[in-house]
Amino acid sequence: MSVTGLLADIQQIGRDATSGGYCRPVFSTAEMDLRAWFLGEADRRGLDVEIDRNGIIWAWWGAPGPGSVVTGSHLDSVPGGGAFDGPLGVAAALAAVDVLRADGFTPQRSLAVAVFPEEEGSRFGIACLGSRLMTGKLSADKARSLTDASGTTLAEVFAAGGVDPRHLGRDEDALARVGHYVELHIEQGRGLIDLGRPIAVGSTILGHGRWRATVRGQGNHAGTTLMADRRDPLVAAAQMVGAVSSLARETDDARATVGRFEPVPGGTNVIASEVRFWIDARHPDDAVTLALVERFRSAFEAIASAHGCTVEVREESWSAGVDFDPGLAARLSAALDDAPLLYTGAGHDAGILAEFVPSGMLFTRNPTGISHSPEEYAEDADADHSAFALAQALRGLLS
Ligand code: GLV
Ligand code: MN
Ligand code: MN
Repeated sequence: MSVTGLLADIQQIGRDATSGGYCRPVFSTAEMDLRAWFLGEADRRGLDVEIDRNGIIWAWWGAPGPGSVVTGSHLDSVPGGGAFDGPLGVAAALAAVDVLRADGFTPQRSLAVAVFPEEEGSRFGIACLGSRLMTGKLSADKARSLTDASGTTLAEVFAAGGVDPRHLGRDEDALARVGHYVELHIEQGRGLIDLGRPIAVGSTILGHGRWRATVRGQGNHAGTTLMADRRDPLVAAAQMVGAVSSLARETDDARATVGRFEPVPGGTNVIASEVRFWIDARHPDDAVTLALVERFRSAFEAIASAHGCTVEVREESWSAGVDFDPGLAARLSAALDDAPLLYTGAGHDAGILAEFVPSGMLFTRNPTGISHSPEEYAEDADADHSAFALAQALRGLLS
């Protein structure tokens, strides 16, 4: 089946009818429906499916074993995300199996299509959670105790999703089987539009991290508390958000975002007692990112003190910059008509795996250049072409 046909089958799952955006948090009903869809598609192709101790789904063409080639992506989304971030790579992987088989290709090693849980970190705060667990970059104890916005622990959510949380953690066997990992993904910027090309090969992922700021003040009455008497953490936090933007703008090539902001308790006639907000910061040079976060911290302390508040800033996750295996990137590019190399500012499971096994990425043109938004897009022809490009890239690694 074509990539567009596969994506059409899941286009209503987790979609908000008003905004058109997708909410598919890991192990929500929507993501469980997508996992079930994937299992059905794997079964239809006669692939052998296993769900490992970290909740990663593997669908095998051939026997699992060392030196296998793995492709795939994720099915969870950010809140209000697009249709392609994750599912395009999964659908292209399934369709690439169809392309290789239709060509009568006989692989010399096994191929697996993998689906990684919680790539976005939108439910538990840590991006690429499945691949971090598998590689041991995230400890099982830390993962189990993470909570979502409703206070439910990851251990509870994984158990409800059928993954026993007692067995989470570094999975030597799973890792040892991966000879190469290649992830196809929608491009999340304008690189391919500017180049006028349909497919690129990933060169680098910018280092990036997430920090949680908690600003504390005095909760109080909106009508009886004079302006001079307030210790309002929301006013302080609003100025801090402004400081994030202006300090990042002063730093060449930095990107810093506050996309989540929560006043507590959050009442129209209540001065908040606490505000939590999250900072995502990225730069091509990891030292610059970390120095920028220190500048945020100093600015926040000055702002908090001017408002009679306190502030605490805690790192939630950090991913150092990744250079993909240059030999593999060159091979992928050569297999794809000298596809251009592109860096990306977005994180991916391929970036986590790259530290352990030769890994690479392919990017499919996105004519809007927009991602993490309903406007993220791929033309049908480009989406379908993704399967042929991925099949071509895999063919060399499987021969
Ligand atoms: C994942 O999409 C990220 O880069 O945040
Ligand atoms: Mn993604
Ligand atoms: Mn994403």
